Amino acid sequence: MKKLKEFILNSRPWKSFFRHGWPDNPLDRSLIMTTNIFFHLHPVRVNKKSIKASYSMGLGIITTVMYILLSLTGIMLMFYYVPSVETAYFDIVTLQTKVPFGQLLRNMHRWGAHMMVLTAILHMARVFYTGAYKPPREFNWVIGVILLIMTFVGSFTGYLLPWDQLAFWAITVGTSVAAYEPLMGKTIQKLLLGGPEVGQAALTRFYALHIMVVPAVLFLLIALHIWRVRKDGGLAANEVKDEVEAEDGK
Ligand code: HEM
Repeated sequence: MKKLKEFILNSRPWKSFFRHGWPDNPLDRSLIMTTNIFFHLHPVRVNKKSIKASYSMGLGIITTVMYILLSLTGIMLMFYYVPSVETAYFDIVTLQTKVPFGQLLRNMHRWGAHMMVLTAILHMARVFYTGAYKPPREFNWVIGVILLIMTFVGSFTGYLLPWDQLAFWAITVGTSVAAYEPLMGKTIQKLLLGGPEVGQAALTRFYALHIMVVPAVLFLLIALHIWRVRKDGGLAANEVKDEVEAEDGK
């Protein structure tokens, strides 16, 4: 048995996959973190306080999970949905009434979107109350603000797609409100609607924004955001401890 274990551990395929030895020493422990793309999101060393659930409440991570859930359920919805004013409403009705688990799929996507808006706002509040926006994290705060806006844009553009009365009038009101913005208002409204009122051009534009532009921008910015957390040395809790220790004269 011992020989077999050694044979496996010393074999080329094993070594090409796992680039570290057994983690019973600091070097191998840090290699585990730096050679794995998912663990590499964290710095090699983190302060215990920063990984306590009560510090960040995992809100940024929950928001990321919501993004992944929305992408997966969104891809599945695309199998059934055609962005045409003639068929869109009936596609959704068919999905809910005839497709197995269709209602569940739609609800997961819809509730996931509500949840993402909620957790992104709560995450921002957490970052604010723990003072984690302070230097050197101002850049990540700015990325965060864009992430929040893109999350809203995702919800807004998705709202029109069911093409029911609620969708039609909500987007009519929403784009009319946008038109009151003093400088670019009318242009923004025209760009969004592609015509004088909510119609096929608007549905096509909202669909393109919803399934391509918003998810792609969110993907890139979430990657940048999480990478930045790592490069800033993990969550801000790390520095809080240092400051307290410095004040105590430790
Ligand atoms: C799509 C929305 C967002 C996602 C997916 C996201 C994701 C994350 C994740 C995974 C972390 C690290 C762990 C954690 O705190 O749970 C984080 C940290 C951070 N986020 Fe976000 N975030 C989002 C929105 C925002 C917003 C709206 C802001 C502020 C305007 C923000 C500012 C920050 C900052 C400054 C940190 C570092 C926190 C620290 O050092 O303690 N993020 N984010």
